[in-house]
Amino acid sequence: MHQKKNIPFKIESIDSLGQGVSKTTDKITFIPKTLPGEVGIAEVRGHKKNVQFAELTELQQTAKERISPDCIHYTSCPSCHFLHTSYENELNFKLQNLERMFFKIEHPPIKSHAAVRRFHYRNRIQLHFDTKIKKLGMLDAKNQQIAPIPQCMIPVDLVKQELMRLYDQDSWLKIIPKNSPPQGHLEIYEKNGVVKIAVNKPYADGGFTQVFSEMNLYLQNLLKDELKTNENTKLLDLFAGDGNLSNNLNYSKRLCIDFYSQSVAFPFHSLDLYSPDALQKTKRLLKENALHPDLLLVDPPRSGLKNLQEWIEDIQPQKVVYVSCDPHTLVRDLSKIDTYLVKGLHLVDLFPSTFHFETVVFLERK
Ligand SMILES: C[S@@+](CC[C@H](N)C(=O)[O-])C[C@H]1O[C@@H](n2cnc3c(N)ncnc32)[C@H](O)[C@@H]1O
Repeated sequence: MHQKKNIPFKIESIDSLGQGVSKTTDKITFIPKTLPGEVGIAEVRGHKKNVQFAELTELQQTAKERISPDCIHYTSCPSCHFLHTSYENELNFKLQNLERMFFKIEHPPIKSHAAVRRFHYRNRIQLHFDTKIKKLGMLDAKNQQIAPIPQCMIPVDLVKQELMRLYDQDSWLKIIPKNSPPQGHLEIYEKNGVVKIAVNKPYADGGFTQVFSEMNLYLQNLLKDELKTNENTKLLDLFAGDGNLSNNLNYSKRLCIDFYSQSVAFPFHSLDLYSPDALQKTKRLLKENALHPDLLLVDPPRSGLKNLQEWIEDIQPQKVVYVSCDPHTLVRDLSKIDTYLVKGLHLVDLFPSTFHFETVVFLERK
């Protein structure tokens, strides 16, 4: 039988996943939902080489920054990471982590942009289900358990109402197709005031959209204010979705590329940007459109764009903007570039309550 192992801890810092880091034992231990200075006991749930992962079981010394979480599901739900402290502290932890990650890259001071609110912002939410055990909720990757979240505070009101309706007398069971395997996922999303539910469809049914509408507008305006593009600007928007980041900019010519978007309302091309010939194909498209970009926008998924350096050395735009939802891959991609300078570095909090955030980097050719 699995033997429970309890260990003492003292938290020294917060890592990029929002977990407290303790070095009290021979292995570095990561403990979610703790704060620097806190002391207590944690139960070890897993380990790799020289590190282990544990869960808080007892607090013997509490940080003065600790608050009681506003959400009743916080202890069991794996999706929020900072509700045991104020939003101000949350943003500070994110900023400190981004500063640490950019340690080796020359850059001006990071500008941090707080979210306009901490809750009721997501216009889409994905839940996992298991019909055998009649459970619907957030999947904890560590133990594969589903945590029910009928009172989740993250979605916008319309999505939240639908969420509560699904939990009411387990009515979600009725919308799972009879031939569905017992385990799957469903997504509740709001588009133009209408709420829809997609069962076992790829994530982001109906196309990618930023999940926090007001902060998305903020992001668009940040690009507009910082770039000050004009009617002569020629731009290439990679991983463009529906052109969200460039729709509001001034330009004379624009080419948007994305694999999945269905939009045909502007010069848009569907292309797998991770395919080996993506750069060559893009160059052909630019030639056909007589477009020599002076501005390149890149907004990839978490996996980043490993060969960004090849793209910018080949296309040679005057300016590059890299918008990233994963600072690790962002730093990996930027580290290979030495012909551009980071002129602006911004943390925009599109995902409050969680460890996620958006980073915007403005680069200019040296
Ligand atoms: C973080 S989103 C950004 C979308 C858009 N810039 C926005 O602000 O809404 C990443 C985009 O990458 C696209 N994408 C994912 N994999 C891709 C691939 N292999 N090739 C091209 N685009 C891809 C997705 O469809 C999605 O629109």
